[in-house]
Amino acid sequence: MRIAETLDVPLRAAAPNLNHKETAFLMDTRQPIAGQVAVVTGAGRGIGAAIARKLAALGATTVLCGRTQTSLDETARAIVDSGGKTEVIPCDVTILHQLEYAAARVDSTFGRLDILVNNAGVGGFKDPLHNLPPEDWDRILNTNLRGVYYAIRAFAPLMIRAYSGHIVNISSLAGKNALPNGAAYAASKWGLNGLTYSVAEELRGHNIRVSVICPGSVETELSPHTGKDPNKMLQPDDVAHVVGMLVTQATQSFASEILLRPTQKP
Ligand SMILES: NC(=O)c1ccc[n+]([C@@H]2O[C@H](COP(=O)([O-])OP(=O)(O)OC[C@H]3O[C@@H](n4cnc5c(N)ncnc54)[C@H](OP(=O)(O)O)[C@@H]3O)[C@@H](O)[C@H]2O)c1
Repeated sequence: MRIAETLDVPLRAAAPNLNHKETAFLMDTRQPIAGQVAVVTGAGRGIGAAIARKLAALGATTVLCGRTQTSLDETARAIVDSGGKTEVIPCDVTILHQLEYAAARVDSTFGRLDILVNNAGVGGFKDPLHNLPPEDWDRILNTNLRGVYYAIRAFAPLMIRAYSGHIVNISSLAGKNALPNGAAYAASKWGLNGLTYSVAEELRGHNIRVSVICPGSVETELSPHTGKDPNKMLQPDDVAHVVGMLVTQATQSFASEILLRPTQKP
């Protein structure tokens, strides 16, 4: 029997002749990160909600962070309805003490943190930079870049203590290319890429893998997608799938950067 054929059907029905060791192996394959704890920022909707659902489906207890309790609760409900484990800790990634509180709560509740996904982000795609209001610059940079610094500052010590962990930063192809009318957003994502490469080297010696995913346009509420064919666009689950791949790598393997494009231009 091929293992892949058994993944989505009840184990006992699919493989009644397996011994305990083989069954345990299959169960590990179904939930390869069972027992681990993951934090996802911006988990209330869009890409963050998809990542949270994915990590919970892979077996992790998934902690949902974001500013809006109601949308975090919606993601939590979806996870629980699918048999997953989750906890909601509302927080704003632009406020350091809220992240420090979240980290203290994760530590006191679970005593560990295995995965941090820095996904929370805001867009800004309307104005050339010379017309961009300074408060928009602050909002974009403080969320997309400073927020990741704050989250790493708050959560990395738990991973350093355990000599293990994954930090996955959700950047963008706008962090690799020019983005007219989105210069502040592009700057935040170019900055995030540089931050990621550097922190990856800082934490490598602590056995922590810090990686970055740079997706092209994904069908979410972040930006209008006028004129794009939704059937060709990347979906939040596509990004979640890549996060799942990163956190289930063999211990010796470190995929540090992934550029994610749609197969056909939408
Ligand atoms: N959609 C795309 O085309 C695309 C492409 C490449 C990369 N990305 C990146 O993917 C990430 C997710 O984007 P998305 O498309 O899923 O956007 P989205 O649907 O607008 O979701 C953004 C999430 O971030 C949260 N958030 C925003 N500011 C926050 C803050 N200060 N503190 C905590 N949470 C905050 C929001 O929740 P609250 O408002 O409730 O806090 C929301 O859950 C972003 O980093 C974005 O730059 C998106």
